[in-house]
Amino acid sequence: GSTASDSKNLKVKLVLLGDSGVGKSCIVLRFVRGQFDPTSKVTVGASFLSQTIALPDSTTVKFEIWDTAGQERYAALAPLYYRGAAVAVVAYDITSSESFSKAKYWVKELQKHGSPDIVMALVGNKADLHENRVVSVEDAVEYAEKNGMFFIETSAKTADNINQLFEEIAKRLP
Ligand code: GTP
Ligand code: MG
Repeated sequence: GSTASDSKNLKVKLVLLGDSGVGKSCIVLRFVRGQFDPTSKVTVGASFLSQTIALPDSTTVKFEIWDTAGQERYAALAPLYYRGAAVAVVAYDITSSESFSKAKYWVKELQKHGSPDIVMALVGNKADLHENRVVSVEDAVEYAEKNGMFFIETSAKTADNINQLFEEIAKRLP
C-alpha cells in the first residue's frame, strides 16, 4: 500500500482547447474558484490559472492551466499553448454539433503537432442542457475510444463532474 514516503509533487502543464462558447473558461473558473459566471466574456489570446489537488495517496498535482481563446481569429496562437503540454482537454458543447466537429479538429491537430505522450481528455460540457442535446454520449465515447482519449460530460454551471475531470486526468499521468 501507499505510505507517506510514496507521495510526490507533480507539476503539469494543461491546455484547454475548443470552440468559442463551449465553456472552457467556466470549467476552469469552477475548478479553481468554485464559481460560475453566466456572463463569462470571450477569452482574448489565452488566460493562465493554476490549481493544486491532492490524490488519495497524498501525491499533489499542480495543474498549470492555459485556457485558450476559441474564436477563429486566435487559432494560430494555439501551438504556443499546446506545445510542451502534458495534458490537453478538448471541450465541446453537447448542444452544438459544430463544436463537436471543432473538437475533432483539435484532436487531429494535437495528434500531428502535440507531444507524442500527451494525455488527452474529451469533455462534453453544458450537460445541464441535456434537453437540447445533439451530441450523443455514444458518438462521443466511440470517438474518444478510437483516439485513446478519456471522455467525460461536465457542467460548469452545476459543477457536475468538474473535479472528477481533473482527478481522472491526474490518475492517467505517466
Ligand atoms: P472562448 O473564450 O471564446 O473560447 O469561450 P469559452 O469556451 O471560454 O466559453 P465561456 O466559458 O466563456 O462560456 C460561454 C457561455 O457558456 C457563457 O455564457 C457561460 O455562462 C455558458 N456556459 C459555460 N459553461 C456552461 C454550462 O456548463 N452550462 C450552461 N448552461 N452554460 C454554460
Ligand atoms: Mg474563454
